[in-house]
Amino acid sequence: MALDTTMGWLRDARNADGSWDVSGVEGISAVSLRTTGAADPPSLVIRPWHQPSAVVSLREFSNNAFNHHHGIQSTERFGTGTDPDGDGFVDEMTRADVTAVSVWQATLPVPGRVIPSDPDLADAVWQGEQLFAQIGCGGCHLPQLELDNWGWIYTEPNPFNPPGNLQVGEAPEFQVNLNAKVLPQPRLINEKNQRTVVPAYTDLKLHDITGGPDDPNRETLNMHFAAGSEEFFAGNSRFLTKRLWGAASMPPYFHHGLFTTLREAVLAHAGEAQTVTDAFNALSDIEQDMIIEFLKSLQILPRGTKALVIDDQGRPRQWPPPGNN
Ligand code: HEC
Repeated sequence: MALDTTMGWLRDARNADGSWDVSGVEGISAVSLRTTGAADPPSLVIRPWHQPSAVVSLREFSNNAFNHHHGIQSTERFGTGTDPDGDGFVDEMTRADVTAVSVWQATLPVPGRVIPSDPDLADAVWQGEQLFAQIGCGGCHLPQLELDNWGWIYTEPNPFNPPGNLQVGEAPEFQVNLNAKVLPQPRLINEKNQRTVVPAYTDLKLHDITGGPDDPNRETLNMHFAAGSEEFFAGNSRFLTKRLWGAASMPPYFHHGLFTTLREAVLAHAGEAQTVTDAFNALSDIEQDMIIEFLKSLQILPRGTKALVIDDQGRPRQWPPPGNN
């Protein structure tokens, strides 16, 4: 049996004994490939959070992070009436608290574009955007992904919440329309409730863009496997294609945050991205600069901005530029 999507990344098969052969699956984290036997197919679910693609939902992320980073344990993860870290506080975070914090994150404004008023610079951004596609950056950093029908309706408990997080049926469902105008602006454009595209510049897949075992951008431990196991010590070189929307406002770059400039990040792509990096290096200086100007236009917009594309004075800007639609 083979499952194939149009993107060709969910490819799996059965072995003669009925067990699952996931060796052909590309871009999906080890957690989503786990199977205990023929009756337990791999979930193949995309995990869009944590740089090596470990976390599937905002709620899972929130429960983890409150515990790991703040020493705050939610009741849904740790039980009620308990004080797991012995700090003298029981029931530090209720289910409603976790719902609120998850919905707040889901409804944050989306990043947009800031196009310089200077016509020459605006032209450089436009040409850089074309070059980005032409040399193959867009093969991984897909300029946009389309939401499925009703994909803009966010619910908690979310159907993807793994065990240890509030499950569907355990509480009344809370629904929010992520395109609702009452939410913080700007929001994605929804054409008559038909089509919402997300210009996140990612394929949400894992790629190895390191140049081999000595590449400093590898991680020496692979957190997807049990601590101490062979796989754990084999390290990890596969990371989610970074979303580039808002990138210019969010240095430093790469999963390790060691690169302070966009150019440094671009030049560090090797491995699966080597041919694209070679193509970038083969461009003239001015063409390379144009790609960087394009990346610089991907920004988090000032609070309250309504348009998704503005100029550097905050005025709504038509994009693509007039005559290029
Ligand atoms: C084979 C897939 C692939 C291709 C092709 C590719 N990238 Fe990436 N890109 C990635 C991955 C994966 C990361 C994250 C690496 C990490 O976190 O260690 C990344 C990270 C980045 C970042 C850092 C963003 C951040 O917030 O950390 C920038 C900028 C970037 N890419 C731009 C480009 C440009 C420009 C091109 C074309 C010249 C390109 N990429 C081609 C996969 C790709």
